[in-house]
Amino acid sequence: MPLVIAIDGPAASGKGTLAKRLADHYRLPHLDTGLLYRAVALALIDAGLSLDDPEAASRAAHALDADRLDDPRLRERAMGEAASRISAVPEVRAALLAWQRRFAADPQGAVLDGRDIGTVVCPDASVKLYITASSEERARRRHLELAGRGEAATFGAILADIEARDTRDASRTAAPLRMADDAIRLDTTSLDPDAAFAEARGIVERAR
Ligand code: C5P
Repeated sequence: MPLVIAIDGPAASGKGTLAKRLADHYRLPHLDTGLLYRAVALALIDAGLSLDDPEAASRAAHALDADRLDDPRLRERAMGEAASRISAVPEVRAALLAWQRRFAADPQGAVLDGRDIGTVVCPDASVKLYITASSEERARRRHLELAGRGEAATFGAILADIEARDTRDASRTAAPLRMADDAIRLDTTSLDPDAAFAEARGIVERAR
């Protein structure tokens, strides 16, 4: 059976870093599914269309060019916020679901990270991890990351962003952020990336 690792969690929980390291370790393809939602939002913004128009968002999701997932603008803070808005549209989620499932069906296996991987995209994943950390710790990490890229934002503004995004992602009707019943929770608040990776690898080894 191919190894499929599903990783979910709130914004800036460390799930992306962990997903990349697990993918490298097990030599599996990795998909950061947040990038798909960010790319739909960016396509709307570039076309001068409203983020609050569900039909335009749905068309953009169907037309998504997955070869453009390396655009550095996708990582900007505003894009996370914009992605969170369009990701509540059920047609957007449906359009991206088929794409994510094809990725997960790679005969080698795969690592996917996002908000609904264990619950919706890969309900039969070999192992499901739910990564959390306190909102203050997540804001601290995001602050460092943005500062490293030269994007100025105060800690307070980032914390407010993260908390607003958590609330929106967890309260939407379409595939809300929640831990799958069979996922294993890993709280990384007091773990550095190496310690988080060691814990996650241990969980994968026990589950596979
Ligand atoms: O993970 P990232 O911060 O890049 O995700 C941006 C936004 O995209 C999230 O706040 C969430 O609303 C949405 N998203 C989602 N489902 C996923 C991945 C991301 O709804 N699987």
